[in-house]
Amino acid sequence: MKRTALYPGTFDPITFGHMDVIRRAADLFDRVIVTIAVNPSKHTLFSLRERRKQIERAVQDIPRAEVAECDGLLVDFALQNGAVAIVRGVRAVSDFDYEFQMALTNRKLAEKITTVFLMPHERYAYLNSSIVREVARLGGRVDCFVPDFVAAALEKKFRDVKS
Ligand code: COA
Repeated sequence: MKRTALYPGTFDPITFGHMDVIRRAADLFDRVIVTIAVNPSKHTLFSLRERRKQIERAVQDIPRAEVAECDGLLVDFALQNGAVAIVRGVRAVSDFDYEFQMALTNRKLAEKITTVFLMPHERYAYLNSSIVREVARLGGRVDCFVPDFVAAALEKKFRDVKS
């Protein structure tokens, strides 16, 4: 039986930290669906289409990884796709409260889906998408945090905003 896991997030944009977690998940599961959670009330810098394209490119060399979008309850999407697990990356103790709450809520909603926490490499422990957006907005280099095509997209986005 194939073991499928979801790796959900907003990915605005995808970073090396996310990719590190996806690689680790792909070593453990037969199929990892990187799931873009569509939340219309959350304002994102990149559109859903842009994020999807970036993620598809970022994971193209990671075997067993694919990309999907979910605009409803994550556990329903997991059940529809035969997933047995939801993977979340925990970077620091500060992630814990929120992750614990989500994991227990999801377990209450769907007992069969297990949340699995993976630690990204410590070199990415401080990283999140807002920091990357902020550095890019202020003209800093972000190619050490994100793939080059994401760095270029960030640069273009903020250039367009300024002009
Ligand atoms: N490397 C770098 N950054 C990481 C990271 C990693 N390994 N893991 C998380 N992050 C960052 C993200 O970049 C993001 O940064 P930002 O807030 O600065 O932009 C932040 O941590 C939050 O991460 P994300 O993984 O995108 O979580 P989220 O809080 O946006 O998403 C969902 C949470 C999508 C999983 C959750 O809302 C969900 O399941 N939604 C679907 C609807 C649903 O079922 N709701 C009930 C859930 S109980």
